[in-house]
Amino acid sequence: MKTVLFVGAGRHQRRAILHAQELGLRVVAVDRNPDAPGLAAADVGETVDFADIGAVTEVGRRHGVDGVLTVSADRAVPVVAAVAEALGLPGIGTETAHLMTNKIAMRRTFADAGVTQPRFAAARDLQSARVALDAVGLPAVLKPADSGGQRGIFYLESQDDLDAHLHVALDESPTNEAIVEGFHDGLELNGIVIAREGEAFPLTLSDRLRPPGIGFGVGWIHVYPASIYADALEEAERVAVHAVHAVGLKDGIAFPQLIVSDDGSVRVVEVAARIPGGQMADLVRHAVGIDLVEVALRQALGEKIPDELVLPRFKQPLAIRFLTAQPGPLPTGKVLSVGPLDPVLAAEGVVQADTYLQAGETIRPVRLDGDRRGYVIATADTSVEALQRAEDAARLLQVEVE
Ligand SMILES: Nc1ncnc2c1ncn2[C@@H]1O[C@H](COP(=O)(O)OP(=O)(O)O)[C@@H](O)[C@H]1O
Ligand SMILES: [Mg+2]
Repeated sequence: MKTVLFVGAGRHQRRAILHAQELGLRVVAVDRNPDAPGLAAADVGETVDFADIGAVTEVGRRHGVDGVLTVSADRAVPVVAAVAEALGLPGIGTETAHLMTNKIAMRRTFADAGVTQPRFAAARDLQSARVALDAVGLPAVLKPADSGGQRGIFYLESQDDLDAHLHVALDESPTNEAIVEGFHDGLELNGIVIAREGEAFPLTLSDRLRPPGIGFGVGWIHVYPASIYADALEEAERVAVHAVHAVGLKDGIAFPQLIVSDDGSVRVVEVAARIPGGQMADLVRHAVGIDLVEVALRQALGEKIPDELVLPRFKQPLAIRFLTAQPGPLPTGKVLSVGPLDPVLAAEGVVQADTYLQAGETIRPVRLDGDRRGYVIATADTSVEALQRAEDAARLLQVEVE
């Protein structure tokens, strides 16, 4: 029996851990939070802060693990790569892991490789940030160099905006660095690209719709297939694959995020080295019948990945509607009660739904990924109809606020 080490054992990881066990693997998991749900699910759960690479490596060595991985946790990606290197296990390599988690390093690599992207400049303090904004121009986006989940991201309309938000962006970065980028309007696409023995190919591309206002970076609706066709679709796929090759990912699941402007130009927002959170693995499973967690597990174990495991089995239009406040279906305020999910699950076309809402919590306007308090996935013959079904079903959840 083979053993895998999960770095991080939160809600997303827990499902993957159970899945690994179904596939006949023994699971060791680490998380700094002793109450992390994945620790209880694992065969062996240890309370270890994964920022401590040496400690995680030691756990892996002690349990004789055959592979190491993470699911959905961007901060764990460099740790997984380092632990794999230290233990001589399959991995994406610490260099690629760095390029895929540090936005400044990533953008410099893209620039060298000619991957189309927004203008950018690095910022460490107010002075360099102002120089960066001058170079990039307005409107711009300010973000931490190495964070995730839309934390510390700001839309900038003026230098005053930069001055006001810079400290938050720098604070969100473990290395105290930020990046200023040109803001590009357009359609955002999320891709899943699979790299296998040095060859990368796009598995899915879906629209990632965003609410207006401060939540501009939060994906609150995913629609598959993407709403672009022909040349535009081909160009988006080409850029996604180009980005994955540029960062040197040979074997792994990549999550490119792209913006397609009205003139058809495609720019890379970022490309992450992991199965994304936010139900993207569910999207792939329902849309094309591929199990990304199994692919990730086999790659972590260094197994050969046969076509059957990664080539689309079908193409099923679908939509994912996250449960958020305005313009989503949830009210804002302190939650008094949450009704049953049954009517949502029973609604036409719904294939999956969940909510994390709890009485006593406060629903806020959408600003971060974490403001998504559940989701509904619906399928239909067309993506437009699927979205309508997901919208209709989402409104069947009764939420009472104070
Ligand atoms: N240069 C940009 N132009 C327009 N929108 C952007 C830009 N950069 C980021 N965004 C929006 O913000 C979101 C989050 O940015 P991203 O760089 O992916 O950070 P994170 O690591 O938090 O996911 C993107 O998915 C996109 O919606
Ligand atoms: Mg992102």
